[in-house]
Amino acid sequence: MAIKDLTKVEHILFICNGGTCLGKGSDDTTAQIRKAITDRNLDDNTHTVRTKCTGQCIHGPMVFVSPGNTWYKGINPELSEELVQRHIVQNEIWQEQQFPWSV
Ligand code: FES
Repeated sequence: MAIKDLTKVEHILFICNGGTCLGKGSDDTTAQIRKAITDRNLDDNTHTVRTKCTGQCIHGPMVFVSPGNTWYKGINPELSEELVQRHIVQNEIWQEQQFPWSV
C-alpha cells in the first residue's frame, strides 16, 4: 500500500460505520464518498476515516468533516456525491443535511 503524504491533506471526513449506520448503508456511503473524491482527483488533499458509533444513530449515517467541525446526518449512498461536491469542492456547508450541533 502506498504511503499517503498527510501534509497535503486539507479535509478529513469521518464516516460512521457503527452498527446502526452500517444497517442504513454507510458501507456504501463510504464507498461512494471515496469514489466521488477520486473522481474529482482529490485523493491527495482529502482523507476518509471509518469510525465506530458516533452516538447519533437515529440520525445516521453520520459524517463529520474537519476542519470546520461540521456534522452531517442521513448521508446515504445517494447523497454522498453531493456532500463531496458541496463541502469539499464548493467549500460550502450543506445546510439541509447539517446536523444541528455543528460548531
Ligand atoms: S452507528 Fe452511526 S451514529 Fe451510531
